[in-house]
Amino acid sequence: MAAFNRRQILMAGAGVTALAALPACSNPPGSTDSGEKVEVFSWWSGPGEEEGLKALIEKFKADNTGVEFVNAAVAGGSGTQAKQVLANRMRGAQPPDSYQLHAGLEASDDIKAGWLEDLTAMYDSNGWKAKFPKGLIDNLSIGGKIYAVPVNIHRSNLMWYVPKKLTEWGIAAPAKTWAEFLAQAETLKAKNVAALSVGATWTQLHLLENVLLGELGVAKYNGLWTGATDWKGAETIAALDTFKKVMAVSVVGTDDWQATIDKVLAGTAAYHVMGDWAAGYLQGAKALKYKDTYDVVASPGSTGVYNFLADSFTLPKGAPHRAHAESWLKLCASPEGQDLFNPLKGSVPARLDADKAKYKDYLAWALQEWQNSSTVVVGSLVHGVVANNAWKAEIEKAYGVFLQDKESAKFAEAVSKAYTANK
Ligand code: GAL
Repeated sequence: MAAFNRRQILMAGAGVTALAALPACSNPPGSTDSGEKVEVFSWWSGPGEEEGLKALIEKFKADNTGVEFVNAAVAGGSGTQAKQVLANRMRGAQPPDSYQLHAGLEASDDIKAGWLEDLTAMYDSNGWKAKFPKGLIDNLSIGGKIYAVPVNIHRSNLMWYVPKKLTEWGIAAPAKTWAEFLAQAETLKAKNVAALSVGATWTQLHLLENVLLGELGVAKYNGLWTGATDWKGAETIAALDTFKKVMAVSVVGTDDWQATIDKVLAGTAAYHVMGDWAAGYLQGAKALKYKDTYDVVASPGSTGVYNFLADSFTLPKGAPHRAHAESWLKLCASPEGQDLFNPLKGSVPARLDADKAKYKDYLAWALQEWQNSSTVVVGSLVHGVVANNAWKAEIEKAYGVFLQDKESAKFAEAVSKAYTANK
C-alpha cells in the first residue's frame, strides 16, 4: 500500500474489462434507511476548503429533490479535529452516511477496523475500475475489495509566493534547493522579511515531509516509510538539521493554512509550503491571478515529483441512509461531479476521463505534471498515504518534543522505534 508507481497509475484501466453490471447493493438487514436525508462528514469548511463541496452539494440537491443534505463538516486543516470526532462516532455506532478519507495507509486502517462497506460491486456495476488509476484504486483496497471512491488528486510539495514581491526584495527566482532557500533567507532578513510562513503543527509536519523529500530525493524519501531508509542514518539527520534551519528563518504561528499563507500575501514572509488546496483559496476567496498576483513552484529539491494525496468518500457500515449515500458516492465518482468539484478545490480529477478544458491556470499546469509520464509520484505522510494512523500519531508526538528540544538524533530515534512498533 505504499506510494505507487507513476506508470501503474497511467496504465489504469488497461486490461481491465468492465464486468457485467451487478445489481446495486440493497440495504442490509437491520439498517434503517428511513429519513429522506444524507449526512456527509468532511473537514471542508471555510474559505478554500468548502467551495468545491458546496458545488457538489448543490448538484446533489438538484438531482435528489426532497432529500435533505446534512453537511457535517468539522473545521480544521488536514482533518486533525474531524478525525477525532469521526472516530468517536464510529466507535459509538453513530456513523454518518459517508465520510472523507485519504487513500493509502489511512484508508487501510479504517478497512481493517471493519468500519467500511465493500464497494466492489458498485465499482463493477458502474464500470469505475476502468475510470480511475489502478494504483489509486489499490490504495483504497485490501484483498482485492475496494472500500472508497476517490474525488481528487492533490499535490503536497508546492511552494507559493507573490512574484512581484520577490522581485521587489531582489530575489530573481524562487529557490530550487533548500540550500538556495537558506541563502535567500539572508537577503530577506536584511529586508525584515521572513523566508517562510508556517502555522499549526500539521502545517509544520507538511513542511517537514517536503524538506525530507527535497533533501533526500525520491528513493530515500520512499524508504523512510518502508524501513529501507534509516531514520537514524547521517543523511536523514542532516535533512532534519536542514528542517531546523528552515524553521529558524520562518515566521512560525499557530494558525491554520489560510491565515498562514495570508502572511505571504501581506509581504511578512516570502514563501509558504502547502498543498494545492491553496490554489482554490488564492483564486477563489482571494481572487488572485496565477503568474500575476500569485505563483507556485515545486518545493525546493522536488521538481518533477508529485507528492500525492487523494480525498475519497466511503460508505460506513450501518450508514443510516444507505441508498442516498450511494447516490452521493455516484455523484463523487461521476465526471460531472469531479469536474464541478476539482476546479474549485484546487485539485486535479481522480478520474482519467475528466474534461481537461475545465482545468485552467495553476490547474492546467498541475494536470500536465500529473499526466506527464516522467513525473515521479510519491505519497504524503501528513495526508494519509505512507504511514498508518498509529505510527503517524507517534511521529506527531515525537515532533512535539523535537520542536522544543531541537534534537534531530533523538527525534529520528523516536520515529524509527515507533515504526518498528507499529508496522
Ligand atoms: C488535506 C485534504 C485536502 C485539504 C487539506 C487542508 O488533508 O486532503 O483536501 O482539505 O487537508 O485541509
